Amino acid sequence: MDYYYRKAKAEGYRSRAAYKLKEINGKYNVIRRGNIVVDLGAAPGGWIQVSREIVGDDGLVIGVDINEIEKFPWSNVITIQADITDEKIVEIIRSVIPNGRMVDVVLSDAAPKISGIWDTDHARQIFIAENALKIAKELLKPDGRCVIKVFQGPLLNDFINKVKGEFVEVKIFKPSASRKESSEVYVIAKRRKISLSQK
Ligand SMILES: C[S@@+](CC[C@H](N)C(=O)[O-])C[C@H]1O[C@@H](n2cnc3c(N)ncnc32)[C@H](O)[C@@H]1O
Repeated sequence: MDYYYRKAKAEGYRSRAAYKLKEINGKYNVIRRGNIVVDLGAAPGGWIQVSREIVGDDGLVIGVDINEIEKFPWSNVITIQADITDEKIVEIIRSVIPNGRMVDVVLSDAAPKISGIWDTDHARQIFIAENALKIAKELLKPDGRCVIKVFQGPLLNDFINKVKGEFVEVKIFKPSASRKESSEVYVIAKRRKISLSQK
């Protein structure tokens, strides 16, 4: 049991990953009070808890996972059991957002089950990250932000270039709660590049 695992248990977070999002948000101010946040690959729910703390009573947090997410006591947290690579996923998420509102933040900590075959895991993870980017493009406001987990490897540069094609500010960050031996890093993107015709 490591430091962040014990800290999460003691502080009531469902995952040690909660501290990764706290650190990301402390540094990049991605999630703000009152925001609508979509959290992809959200089970068991540590990032949902951190997001809910930040958005407060007036925001909305929507968590999506292929596995069931145990219910939370807050009325402004909605959980959806779905595959984020499903072609209907944007429609499914939109159906739970009131008044057709756009989203402030898309988070993705989604990762495939690790097979141990490094190339395969990297490729699967980048595929999931590409789906998260696609969802972000559909749902985010022009000043929307996103955080997407990726695994380092040969496909990463191409993915980062795709993110750079969509957002003005793009940063790569490895939080201290991310295990050193893990190849995961987070892509943080702000300010969408939207042409006048899309506005
Ligand atoms: C590292 S965990 C997320 C932990 C979460 N951020 C937290 O703080 O509790 C990764 C999650 O991604 C989910 N996942 C992987 N592939 C998915 C997919 N195609 N669609 C939806 N969820 C997926 C897994 O089921 C798993 O729960």
